[in-house]
Amino acid sequence: MITDARVPAIQAENLTVSYGPRPALLDVSVAIEPGTLVGVIGPNGSGKSTLVKAILGFVKRDFGTVKIFGQPVEEALGRLAYVPQRGAVDWDYPVTVEEVAMMGRYGRIPWWGSPSADDRRAVAEALDIVRMGEFRARQIGQLSGGQQQRVFMARALAQGADILLLDEPFAGVDAATERALLEVLRQARAAGRTLVVVHHDLATAAETFDRLLLLKQRLYGYGPPEAVLQEDLLSEVYEGRLRVFGTLKKGEKR
Ligand SMILES: Nc1ncnc2c1ncn2[C@@H]1O[C@H](COP(=O)(O)OP(=O)(O)OP(=O)(O)O)[C@@H](O)[C@H]1O
Ligand SMILES: [Mg+2]
Repeated sequence: MITDARVPAIQAENLTVSYGPRPALLDVSVAIEPGTLVGVIGPNGSGKSTLVKAILGFVKRDFGTVKIFGQPVEEALGRLAYVPQRGAVDWDYPVTVEEVAMMGRYGRIPWWGSPSADDRRAVAEALDIVRMGEFRARQIGQLSGGQQQRVFMARALAQGADILLLDEPFAGVDAATERALLEVLRQARAAGRTLVVVHHDLATAAETFDRLLLLKQRLYGYGPPEAVLQEDLLSEVYEGRLRVFGTLKKGEKR
């Protein structure tokens, strides 16, 4: 699809979501440029997963709008792929690696049909990219955590979506797998995709992402890592509980 680079890939305006009396997300407005690799950072419970789900429409918005390439999100769901946070998935469900990856194609397969040669090719390619091709017949519950993460990434890639939303894809994976997954994300960016990645590790955030989105119920910052990783901002968001690597004092330049 041809995309106008001036239209944000994701535009959230005044996004507010609450599960109970206190909003988990309050008045968040942000415009994410197409083709960027965005890291969403913030402490536990700061609303990172909620932001991702609110963009997808998986949680009800109290207030606010989300546009995907200028269209209301409800009309553009096919352009979004999602990798949920681990723990949000029932791993005992009896499906194979290949079937999980094929789920990424379901939006393209009519309910009366079965996967086409194109669908099978897309799935095989995606499994190869994440280096899980040799496990394609394995039950998903019989994989390690890092391998499961890679299969979920393959599902998102197989979908061929313009925007990938990944909730802590590096959680619990070893350093080699993290590097491999990161390389997959970079390839997706090189192919023009927009990636929004919830990320826990501030130490690697600056080198990994084009933009950081700092969240704690409200949006505290969105921009290049050096603009967001400011000590005063971080100590406010993390309430001084954090020893931050590579942060800058106010006004300091990298
Ligand atoms: N389904 C739910 N029902 C009620 N409250 C919820 C629900 N999901 C999240 N919350 C609350 O909303 C707030 C934000 O949660 P969210 O999962 O978005 O945080 P997070 O930044 O992703 O945290 P983590 O780093 O632990 O994954 C938290 O206070 C959490 O307890
Ligand atoms: Mg979360």
